[in-house]
Amino acid sequence: MCRHWNQVRRLTGRVVRGLIVTRAMSSGLTGVEAGKRAAARAAVDNHIKTGQAVGIGSGSTIVFAVERIAERVKSENLQLRCVPTSFQAKQLIQDNNLTLSSLETCPKLDVAIDGADEVDSQLNCIKGGGGCLTQEKIVASCAEEFIIIADYRKDTGALGTYWTKGIPIEVIPMAYKPIQIRVASELGGKADLRMANRKAGPVVTDNGNFILDWVAPTKTENWEFVNQQIKIIPGVLETGLFIKMARIAYFGNEDGSISTRSPPWLQSAGDR
Ligand code: 5RP
Repeated sequence: MCRHWNQVRRLTGRVVRGLIVTRAMSSGLTGVEAGKRAAARAAVDNHIKTGQAVGIGSGSTIVFAVERIAERVKSENLQLRCVPTSFQAKQLIQDNNLTLSSLETCPKLDVAIDGADEVDSQLNCIKGGGGCLTQEKIVASCAEEFIIIADYRKDTGALGTYWTKGIPIEVIPMAYKPIQIRVASELGGKADLRMANRKAGPVVTDNGNFILDWVAPTKTENWEFVNQQIKIIPGVLETGLFIKMARIAYFGNEDGSISTRSPPWLQSAGDR
């Protein structure tokens, strides 16, 4: 049995592999979608307990997690409060008859589950492919445990390997031009204004802002520094760099199996 299965076995105290493969197959999904579903369901099964306040991420992978949460609420009568990270997440919560909450009534969350566009060896992530980075980061920062769910393609050694569309940066609309110029002159590369598909003009976020997608000129390992450099520019609201936030990532494979990974800094702290 390979190492990650031992990891999963340790984490759950039971053999998860057979269970996950069976469920993925019975869903009729194949390929990447089967991987997303397997990762999402395993994370929900291993981390969600009754009484919790749960942050609900955005994107396509989180849909599988919410479906599994709803199944468990029904079959196990779990009592949960769900805090959304976007308009999409809010609708998902409501459509699945889960209890919608907010950071106003639930400022401390037990767990937050979310997808990612790419995850590096330290579990640093690029997020914001769907433009929800700011609320996602706020919700993740309020959670005791931030869990990433993704398909195997997102698991790379270095950010920028798989996700080549750039680091999303949410900006106040009136400042987008000076921010573009400053990012390019101070950090190099190019920060493009994200344009909408079925609307004329730029993408407008759930917060009424614009998104710049910054493609870095070279690869770096010091994403923490880069993140700080971008964040101090006036008009920048948030970046899609999630540094040292995730405690565990679930990656799903095409055959419905999963692997999990915790960041080295957490393992060495002997924290979990
Ligand atoms: C949205 C996000 C998503 O979590 C990220 O884009 C991953 O999405 P998907 O699960 O569809 O791959 O950050 O802003």
